[in-house]
Amino acid sequence: MTQPAALPAELPDEAIRRFAQIRDDFTRMMLGYRFGMEQVAMRLEILREEFAELHLDNPIEHISTRVKSPESILEKAARQGVELEIPDLREHITDIAGVRVICSFVADVYRLVDSLTAQADITVRVVKDYIANPKPNGYRSLHVILEIPVFLSSGPVQVPVEVQFRTVAMDFWASTEHKIFYKYEGDVPPDLRQRITDAAATAARMDEEMAQLHRAVHGGD
Ligand code: GTP
Ligand code: MG
Repeated sequence: MTQPAALPAELPDEAIRRFAQIRDDFTRMMLGYRFGMEQVAMRLEILREEFAELHLDNPIEHISTRVKSPESILEKAARQGVELEIPDLREHITDIAGVRVICSFVADVYRLVDSLTAQADITVRVVKDYIANPKPNGYRSLHVILEIPVFLSSGPVQVPVEVQFRTVAMDFWASTEHKIFYKYEGDVPPDLRQRITDAAATAARMDEEMAQLHRAVHGGD
C-alpha cells in the first residue's frame, strides 16, 4: 500500500481554510448531483407506476443511475479544457449525473420524454435525438440534458442531469459496442466496425418488427 503524502508540519491557517472550503463546496456539488439524479429517477418511477396502473401497459423496462466519479470528472474537464471551478464544471460537464431509461418500444421513449419534460420545475437544456438521427456507427438513443431543482440547506440549486432513453434492442447494441470499443481501445478494425453498424440496423429492424407485432395484438398507435 502506498502511504498518503505527509502534510507539511506547519500549513498556514489560510491554506487549511481554503482546502476545507473547496472540500465542502465539492461535497455539496456532488450531493446536489446525486439528489438531482435520484429525483429524476423517482419521477420516472412515478410515471411507470401510473402508466402501469392506468394503462395496463408498462413503458419502462428498467432504470439505472450513476454519478460520475471525481476522477472521471477531472479527466473530462482536463480533456475539454474546462476550468476546475464549480460553475465551470456545472456549465460544461453535463453528464455528472446520469439516468438511463430502457423502454420496450420506440413510441414509449417519446411518450416518456414528453411526460417527464412537461413537468413544471424541469427545464430542458439540450435534446439529442439519435433515434431520428443515428450516429454514423449506428448508435441510437434519445438524450435529454435537463435541470431539476434540489433544495439544500444552503438554498436551491438547479442540477443538470443527462437522461438517456433507449429501447432494449438499442441498449443491447450500445453495451456490446461499448465493450468492443474498450477492448480495442477505440481502434476497432474496419471489418468489425462495419459489422457493428450492420448490427445497429438489425436492432432498428427488430424495434420496428416488435412495434408492428405489438400493434397487431393490442391495436392503437
Ligand atoms: P461524451 O463526452 O461521451 O459524454 O459525449 P457528448 O458530450 O458528445 O454527448 P453524446 O450525447 O454524444 O454522448 C453522451 C453519452 O452517450 C456517452 O457518454 C455514452 O454513454 C453514450 N454514447 C454516445 N455515443 C455512443 C456510442 O457510439 N456508443 C455507445 N455505446 N454509447 C454512446
Ligand atoms: Mg458522457
